[in-house]
Amino acid sequence: MRKKIVAGNWKMFKTNSEAVRLVQSLRTRVEKSPVKKNTVIVCPPYTALEKVSGILQGSGIQVGAQNLFWEEEGAYTGEISAKMIKSTGAKWVIIGHSERRRYFKEDENLIHRKIQIALKNKLKVIFCVGETLEEREENLTKDIVGNQVEWGLKDFTHQQLNQVVIAYEPVWAIGTGKTATPEQAQEVHAFIRDILNALFDDTVGRNMTILYGGSVKPQNAEGLFQQPDIDGGLIGGACLKADSFHRIIKAAEKVY
Ligand code: PGA
Repeated sequence: MRKKIVAGNWKMFKTNSEAVRLVQSLRTRVEKSPVKKNTVIVCPPYTALEKVSGILQGSGIQVGAQNLFWEEEGAYTGEISAKMIKSTGAKWVIIGHSERRRYFKEDENLIHRKIQIALKNKLKVIFCVGETLEEREENLTKDIVGNQVEWGLKDFTHQQLNQVVIAYEPVWAIGTGKTATPEQAQEVHAFIRDILNALFDDTVGRNMTILYGGSVKPQNAEGLFQQPDIDGGLIGGACLKADSFHRIIKAAEKVY
C-alpha cells in the first residue's frame, strides 16, 4: 500500500506568532478528529520550523522545510543546509517547486543535487514536477514531466527512492484557482508511474507516492483523491487556514 499524504506548503506566509496560532489550531482539530490513515505534513518558512516542530510534537503531524542548499556547509551567505533543517525537528523538505524553478532558475541538475544532499542527511523529499500552460498547450506535458522525473531521480537506488515522494503540480494550476480536473491529473500521475517503471522497474512505479498540487481546496479534494494514481495533495493557499487544511485532511481520511 502506498503512503497517502496531505502536505501543506506555507510558502512565504506567517510570522512566528501567526505560525504558532495556525498550528495550535490545527493540532486542536486533529485531536478532535484524529488522522488514522494518512500522513500529514506542514511546511512552514525556515524561521518557524523549530517552533512549529515543538508545538506539533506528539500530534502525529510531521514538519518539512520548503527548500535547502545543495552543499553540506560553507560560505554561502543566506543559505540553509540539510543539517540545519534536521536540527529544527523537520523530517521533510520540498525540492523543485515551480516557484523555485521560475524565480530562482533552479534547473534539473541543481534539483538533483538538492535531492541528493537531502537524502544523504536523511531528510525525506517532496519532489515537485509540472508543466507550464504554454507547454501543455503545445502538447509537451509528458516530455517536460518525463524529463523532470528522469533527471531529478537519476541514479538513485531503490532505497533512496523510498525516501522520495513526487508532487505533480501543473504550473498553470498553482495559486490560480484553476485546478486540473481529476482526469487530467490522473492521466499525468499514471504517466509518471510508467516513466518510473521504464527508468527503474515496476516496483518503483507501483510504490511511489504521487501527490497532486495546484489549487486543491476542500471542495475539490475528494474528487482528486478518488483517482487511482493520486495519493494525496500538496496544498498551498488552502493550508494557510486550519479549517480548510483540516477539511482537506478529512477528505483524504474519507477516501483512502
Ligand atoms: P496552491 O499551491 O494550492 O495555492 O495552488 C500549491 C503549491 O504551490 O504547492
